[in-house]
Amino acid sequence: MQSILITGGLGYIGSITITELYKTIGKQYKIIILDNLINSKIQVLDTISSIIGEKLDLHIVDIQNYNELSEVFKKYQEKNPINYIIHFAALKAVGESVENPIKYYQNNVVGTLNLLRCAEEYKCQNFLFSSSATVYAPGEFVDEEAPFKPSNPYGETKVVIEYLIRSLSKKGGRYLCLRYFNPVGATKDGKLGEMPNKPNNLFPYIEQVAIGNLEQLYVFGNDYNTHDGTGIRDYIHVLDLAEAHVVALQELIKRDEKNENYYDYFNIGTGKGFSVIDIVNEYSKLVPIKYQITNKRVGDVAILVANPNKTKEKLGWIAKRGLTEMCQDSYNFIKSKQ
Ligand code: UD1
Repeated sequence: MQSILITGGLGYIGSITITELYKTIGKQYKIIILDNLINSKIQVLDTISSIIGEKLDLHIVDIQNYNELSEVFKKYQEKNPINYIIHFAALKAVGESVENPIKYYQNNVVGTLNLLRCAEEYKCQNFLFSSSATVYAPGEFVDEEAPFKPSNPYGETKVVIEYLIRSLSKKGGRYLCLRYFNPVGATKDGKLGEMPNKPNNLFPYIEQVAIGNLEQLYVFGNDYNTHDGTGIRDYIHVLDLAEAHVVALQELIKRDEKNENYYDYFNIGTGKGFSVIDIVNEYSKLVPIKYQITNKRVGDVAILVANPNKTKEKLGWIAKRGLTEMCQDSYNFIKSKQ
């Protein structure tokens, strides 16, 4: 049996993707999790086990450590060779990346380079990469041919890795980059969701207000050129995002079995934009969310929304869950963690 290596598999998106994968194609492959626990908790492994009914192999390894990473590939080489990689592991706090670009390039770029070196050495030629909408300039209905214009070192690391992948793909193999817009929400049972140490993004912040840990939300600016002056984003339910990974992996498997070379990149968003106030209003149907308008956040943009058409046409994937469900699942998750 071949293996699928999932880096960052105990993180928010990685863990939920594993449970979705397992439901569909996971049983035909051995799933191996790699995580350095920097932004995740070891208990997530037990949660995954309780959902899928099986204990998966976990390697607590930092992708910056080439030797330890290489040992993982070596360990499975004989019986369960790693033939597919889904690469989630990355640092993703924009503010921190501005403060410490070296840390971000070191972790994200060098770490991915190590992973791709191992993949080359152990003849694994199927690679699915977590990219981000942050590679683009702001805009409405942004398609995949929009030029790269990252506005912070975090976004730059995603662009550099996408360039590396594009160059590698010219030598053969199968490579996909998924550019996520704003993933939110949690699993229906409230077991898996995002638990950042310190909330920076909108939903984790609202969740803390929803359960009374924070008094109010600070809305960053209300004079953007949008319908109510607050920033508009393309929020996507994390379960839709997880399903996108399943579809993308199936595409890699299909091409691998035919021994075809393949390289592509896709937006993973809904194509619909909501403002901060739209979100507050929707969430307030569940629980009142007090807010106050404050100054704009440095580096924020008015609007960033996906054109999801290419993903629909070429991968047959489309987001199914709307804003009401995103808010309900987010609230359900955070309540169950109290
Ligand atoms: C941020 C990152 C982006 C990353 C994404 C991951 C920045 C500038 N960009 O996107 O690179 O890929 O997270 O999900 O950080 N807001 C408030 N109050 C808050 C928090 C947010 O008003 O306490 C507003 C923001 O101004 C923005 C919207 O909510 O209009 C969404 O913000 P956020 O959830 O941080 O995501 P992005 O900034 O879009």
